[in-house]
Amino acid sequence: MILVTGGAGFIGSNFVCAWVHAGKEPLCVLDALTYAGNLENLQSISAPSALTARWRFEKLDLRDREAVEGLVLALKPRAIVHFAAESHVDRSIHGPGDFIQTNVVGTFHLLEAARNHWVTLQGADRENFRFLHVSTDEVYGSLGQHDPAFHESTPYAPNSPYSASKAASDHLVRAWHHTYGMPTLTTNCSNNYGPYQFPEKLIPLMISHALEGKALPVYGDGQNVRDWLHVQDHCDAIMRVLQAGRVGEVYNIGGNAEMKNLDVVHTLCAVLDRLKPKAQGSYTDQIQFVRDRPGHDRRYAIDARKIRDELQWSPSYNFEQGLEQTIIWYLNHSDWVDRVKSGAYRDWIDTHYQQSSHSIKPTP
Ligand code: NAD
Ligand code: DAU
Repeated sequence: MILVTGGAGFIGSNFVCAWVHAGKEPLCVLDALTYAGNLENLQSISAPSALTARWRFEKLDLRDREAVEGLVLALKPRAIVHFAAESHVDRSIHGPGDFIQTNVVGTFHLLEAARNHWVTLQGADRENFRFLHVSTDEVYGSLGQHDPAFHESTPYAPNSPYSASKAASDHLVRAWHHTYGMPTLTTNCSNNYGPYQFPEKLIPLMISHALEGKALPVYGDGQNVRDWLHVQDHCDAIMRVLQAGRVGEVYNIGGNAEMKNLDVVHTLCAVLDRLKPKAQGSYTDQIQFVRDRPGHDRRYAIDARKIRDELQWSPSYNFEQGLEQTIIWYLNHSDWVDRVKSGAYRDWIDTHYQQSSHSIKPTP
């Protein structure tokens, strides 16, 4: 079987469902179920059916070294796909501690557990073992308007506690390959969007605020650029890297969809105006410019030629189609959003937007 950490989160759950539906080898999800982990994300493979026999769930915290080691040694996985992380930049600014503990120390625990398992393997089992580390383009820092896109040998320059913790974890993975010969793979991906994304991130937050008649809080001047990739494309890319990536290598994954934040919000409002028109006016009337994120990276862009040329992967969604499909998903899953928001998410919104420097007021 394969072991998937963080499989109850946004990207992890999309990956797990795609894997199980595709009838691939059995799978075990390891997840601590933090505020971002939600077993409901796995409902399409949870209803009693032949699928339920193909996977299992272990509630386990990567910060617990003994437990991680015990599980990996008991499962003897053929591969480990490591999604689990604290993933929200704004939360890392408010409280970096969990990011260091989970993203750095947790990855160290998982690497050691994987190594202790891998050294016991022989022959084809040893040959076929893989540790795939899912990381981010944010480790490369911030680009100027005319800078070339990030490629696999762009020097690391993380700027937020989140990206610094992910960069540290990438370095650990690299070292475990170079020092111990562990068969690792690392992927660095751009901004994902799609079903089951926690409504603290830009796109689901804007959809949910728009529908509730709340302010749409755009940080700074809204001219920061991100490259957007549909989560299904990301999951396909990870499967491809796991299947055929060269051991020890890094693969950048991107959507060829650079957009300014304000343009993303305008596009999203235009789709909502069409699909769910307001009684009066446009959703764009709700846009408010708020104080900027501290250390806000200006632009990310991905040069994904390596994965395209070596592994014949490229994204299948274009952003406008993917965004519309995502908005429709959120419109049809308001019950999921409501349940998520009745939990810890509520407290987070209050802390972040009402009591902090990000209060929803127009930027002076
Ligand atoms: P997410 O926050 O939605 O999910 C994270 C999952 O990890 C949750 O299920 C959570 O319960 C689990 N988790 C957190 N701490 C844990 C711990 N200590 N032990 C066990 N489980 C724990 O994150 P996501 O957006 O799905 O991102 C998944 C991975 O992809 C992360 O490593 C992130 O850095 C990376 N990534 C994300 C994006 C993006 O746009 N979301 C882009 C590139 C890379
Ligand atoms: O680039 C990959 C990264 O993308 C992942 O590694 C992270 O896990 C993921 O959270 C994401 O990071 P960002 O900081 O880019 O995503 P976020 O959705 O938080 O913000 C996207 C952009 O929108 C960013 O420039 C900040 C801006 N923003 C965000 C929020 C939540 C706003 O203007 N207003 C908001 O309320």
